[in-house]
Amino acid sequence: MSTPTETELDALGGAIAGEIDGAGSIGALEEIRVSALGKKGRVSLLMKSLGQMSPEERQTMGPALNGLKVRITDLIQGKKDALEAAALDARLETERVDITLPVAPELEGRIHPVSQVTDELVAIFADMGFSLAEGPDIEDDFHNFTALNFPPAHPAREMHDTFFLKQDDAELQAQQKGGRAAANEPPKVLRTHTSPVQIRHMMANKPPIRIIVPGRTYRCDSDQTHTPMFNQIEGLVIDKATHMGHLKGCLIEFIKAFFEIDEINYRFRPHFFPFTEPSAEMDIGYTVDENGEQKIGHGGQFMEILGCGMVHPNVLKNCGLDPDEYQGFAFGLGVDRLAMLKYGIRDLRPFWEADQRWLKHYGFRPLDMPNLAGGLSR
Ligand code: DAH
Repeated sequence: MSTPTETELDALGGAIAGEIDGAGSIGALEEIRVSALGKKGRVSLLMKSLGQMSPEERQTMGPALNGLKVRITDLIQGKKDALEAAALDARLETERVDITLPVAPELEGRIHPVSQVTDELVAIFADMGFSLAEGPDIEDDFHNFTALNFPPAHPAREMHDTFFLKQDDAELQAQQKGGRAAANEPPKVLRTHTSPVQIRHMMANKPPIRIIVPGRTYRCDSDQTHTPMFNQIEGLVIDKATHMGHLKGCLIEFIKAFFEIDEINYRFRPHFFPFTEPSAEMDIGYTVDENGEQKIGHGGQFMEILGCGMVHPNVLKNCGLDPDEYQGFAFGLGVDRLAMLKYGIRDLRPFWEADQRWLKHYGFRPLDMPNLAGGLSR
């Protein structure tokens, strides 16, 4: 190979720079790199020929060739960066998302009215400083009845249409081995109310106590407004100076927040529950409009909405609390019935039929989480 002149080198550099400039893709650029700087590339071959040059030639050609190599390397890198940036821009352009468009396909899932109402109740009571407690669906006689001051064979036990569980064989055997007569153990029950969680919580925690307990409950009952499984929410407050005024204030505020109204017509009617003394039922006023829809709030007609009362001293004692030191109030209400009232659902049975058409009509959008600041039911 004859030694190139400076003009020839310049021409070669210019040609390669032109090729680089015109490269339309990373692949094409790579081909140019190989053809210039690869093992048999045009610049590499010239560099190899340095060995056959005279020392004088080498003195000028060495730096010139090196300069050419550096220049081409830089040009290739610059072009590569530009091509990559352009590819990224193009990709981002195709992946552009307009977040102001409605979701497509339309969001399908719906939140069940019972879940919605439970979330609303939790939001309201959490705002008042209550925390959440839970208990098992399968209860024993002690927690469901005895500790709640239902005397043995008291007719109140029958009020509840209890589902009793069969004694499990394994349990029977274990009891026999332990020398205990199985027949003396009362059968387990499906809890008939959420009140047993009061007992569990008071036995495991020191006052002050402020809890709500949403959960499934069971009674052998079935018609348009009763199903064998239904949902209740229980409230319990225990402290040293809690009185009936606190109970009333708490429940009136709760009803106003839940029905999202400023004024409410209400009354507390004396009632009987074994676990509270005094006991009451709270009624709220409503009117019926020309379409037969109930409107909660004002009006001279009253409907029962919940049971409540001051926790019975026997219940406190059963949980190891001294009734001379502690007192409190409790309340319990049906979550399904609240959902029916607030959202105008007339029949309870479809709640548990898992019919998508029903859920689409009465259900709630998953992204609309109820909270007091943003609105419970919007
Ligand atoms: N456990 C009652 C029921 O299921 C409801 C109830 C009434 C709960 C009064 C309470 C209460 O805590 O104080 O009918």
